[in-house]
Amino acid sequence: MNQFNSVYITIRDEIFDALDASSLIEISASDLETQLRDSVNILIDKRQFQVSNLQRVDLVKALLDELKGLGPLQTLIDNDNISDIMINGPQNIFIELNGKIDKSPVQFVNEKQLNTIAKRIAANVGRRVDETKPICDARLADGSRVNIVIPPLALDGTSISIRKFKKHKIKLENLVEFGAMSVEMAKLLSIAAHCKCNILISGGTGSGKTTLLNAMSGFAGNTDRIVTIEDAAELQLQQPHVVRLETRQASIEGTGEITARDLVINSLRMRPDRIIVGECRGGEAFEMLQAMNTGHDGSMSTLHANTPRDAIARVESMVMMATSSLPLEAIRRTIVSAVDLIVQVKRLHDGSRKVIFISEVMGLEGDNVVLEDIFKFVNDGTTEDGKIEGKFKTPGLSTRSVVYERAKFFGLENTVREIFQ
Ligand SMILES: Nc1ncnc2c1ncn2[C@@H]1O[C@H](COP(=O)(O)OP(=O)(O)O)[C@@H](O)[C@H]1O
Ligand SMILES: [Mg+2]
Repeated sequence: MNQFNSVYITIRDEIFDALDASSLIEISASDLETQLRDSVNILIDKRQFQVSNLQRVDLVKALLDELKGLGPLQTLIDNDNISDIMINGPQNIFIELNGKIDKSPVQFVNEKQLNTIAKRIAANVGRRVDETKPICDARLADGSRVNIVIPPLALDGTSISIRKFKKHKIKLENLVEFGAMSVEMAKLLSIAAHCKCNILISGGTGSGKTTLLNAMSGFAGNTDRIVTIEDAAELQLQQPHVVRLETRQASIEGTGEITARDLVINSLRMRPDRIIVGECRGGEAFEMLQAMNTGHDGSMSTLHANTPRDAIARVESMVMMATSSLPLEAIRRTIVSAVDLIVQVKRLHDGSRKVIFISEVMGLEGDNVVLEDIFKFVNDGTTEDGKIEGKFKTPGLSTRSVVYERAKFFGLENTVREIFQ
């Protein structure tokens, strides 16, 4: 342990012992800072520690962060250039800074401090993490997503994974700049979202589903009443008429759980125009399809699947799990009449993220769901430095296109036609 840390632990223990915890709630950050500065100076002089003025400032900040904020984590959270923070025990913190992962010099003084902060993060959103419930999903005040696993499940000390909330949200035009899709695809997706197509975004973990959902939801009308349902709120809709709902995990006694399915059912009584489900994982798929089929056009969601056809199969199995009575054929018919468009995203092996299919759900032919690709990414190979090359191709719009029919209703059929000229 370095000298700064050992001084810090001594001072911190003395100050914390003397502190009246209840007074902390009322005191302002600047008053607390003044008090802490005085106490730090007195203690350092009393014990004759060799501490520079600059280090005294750092000590006060560290105490302040620990009392009011998230301790050593606070500096990393305040740094907007850091996108991910991964904590493997008190001494091993890794960060993703500008796309590169490195070990951070920041450390916790010990496991107890790290564990206390993990508990505080959970408590801030009304959740608990302890020996009986050692895994927890939470969210920081700024919207960042957090996953916590504590010992004994985490072998080397408390593990915290943070996906930082992006203050600058990625728009469709940015995705075009990044090479994730063509200008034409961005135009088509914006029209589809605006003209109330029901859209599923399919892809693997970290493939960019939520990012795309967020970008597309920006094209919903300002007068639409939108209800969003998420496990940990990530969407950042700019429209004025938005109700944001979040699921709740079961309490320690195993009660009080509110699932995405509960929220979708409830949202139908909230007079929504559109329902946006952050991620479909289970039974909520059934209610969402019902919603799409009963006048809540323009609903969107994401799900885990590798191709548009796979996405249909995933929805089928989610609905089957939710309703034991519905025959497969009926489920298929419900899916086909509910879903208009499937957008497939993928993280390619060179690390780039791309929209690899935009497919329309045309209908049923016998048992078979008919999909038609409007756009697809065709891989031309890999360059010497490992970059994937390819083109976005379109066979043109089907004469029976659902998006075209919707666009016509909104008076935008010429705009759609122009995309394919
Ligand atoms: N097209 C893209 N190009 C570069 N980065 C992207 C792209 N799409 C998403 N990202 C980034 O990738 C990460 C994962 O994206 P996210 O949308 O959360 O994935 P998912 O919801 O599929 O798990 C985020 O940090 C996001 O900013
Ligand atoms: Mg996501």
